[in-house]
Amino acid sequence: MRKWVLKAIVQKTISYLPLSHKINYIFQKYVTKGVYLSDEYFYDRLGHAKVHIKSYQKYSGKSTPGSCLEIGTGWYPVVPIGLFLAGADRIYSVDITLLTSKERLQTTLQKFVACRQSGRLTDYIDFLPGRFEAVLEILRDYEKLSLDEVLSKLNMSYLIEDARKLSLSDNSIDLINSNNTFEHIYTDVLIPILKEFKRVLKKQGGVMSHFIDMSDHFAHFDKSITIYNFLKFTDKQWKWIDNTVQPQSRSRIYDYKQIYAGLGIPISEESFRKGNLDELKSIPLAKKFTDKPLEEVAKSHCHFVSHWDA
Ligand SMILES: C[S@@+](CC[C@H](N)C(=O)[O-])C[C@H]1O[C@@H](n2cnc3c(N)ncnc32)[C@H](O)[C@@H]1O
Repeated sequence: MRKWVLKAIVQKTISYLPLSHKINYIFQKYVTKGVYLSDEYFYDRLGHAKVHIKSYQKYSGKSTPGSCLEIGTGWYPVVPIGLFLAGADRIYSVDITLLTSKERLQTTLQKFVACRQSGRLTDYIDFLPGRFEAVLEILRDYEKLSLDEVLSKLNMSYLIEDARKLSLSDNSIDLINSNNTFEHIYTDVLIPILKEFKRVLKKQGGVMSHFIDMSDHFAHFDKSITIYNFLKFTDKQWKWIDNTVQPQSRSRIYDYKQIYAGLGIPISEESFRKGNLDELKSIPLAKKFTDKPLEEVAKSHCHFVSHWDA
């Protein structure tokens, strides 16, 4: 049996169990080895943090976002810590489950220290020296501090709630970001989330910056399939294969653009990876993916920046 099929079956089974996210973490840690904070992951997300901050600076004309909101931070809060180092005063991370822990937060902070020692941090973040000192101080006292105390020293708050109904005021956030999260949220949920983002973002100077990875995530784990493998299934078949611990909506770049347009959210800047047409052509596509130009279907990653002109 193919590796990805085995993983799909295990995740599907886990998704029916209580505490499915915790069990998935253990499965990923000991079986697929997918939860280790690798340099590849760390620097990829640090690169996202750099782009979020640069996008904010470009469209707001200010150097640092005061208040930030990230959806779906995941196990290691690389981007929120990057925003703290850059000078953000309040950093919210919203998710329906708490995926980080005191231990994983410490691992992330230690990775920042190693990055600084290697001389690479300034390639990504224009950090405030006082903020870096604060990180060192947190690590020195780590055993004595609770998770809440560490988060508070990092100006971070985890909002464990559904992003369709945020406990944040209208017009209160300078920068809203996400990193490889939208592809895990189906359109019927993403639309109300984006409406909430529109509500809480400051209309004057506020910026949204979202990275979306539209590749078949099973291909990250099983190199025998391409990043387009999941496009061969009909929606009905995909419903059987997909799971709730790591769902994949299979939306393509044109679907996201349609959602944004429908909500009146401007795309002020867009970038994408064009993918691999030959690989896409090797897949017998399900009908729903055949009515758009192949070049559009093939786009594998995208980044959208939104900003309302004052
Ligand atoms: C796979 S993770 C994102 C990965 C992460 N950003 C990274 O960089 O590795 C997607 C997250 O979105 C969260 N999510 C999905 N729907 C949500 C909702 N309605 N409100 C808040 N969070 C949601 C999920 O719980 C999940 O933790």
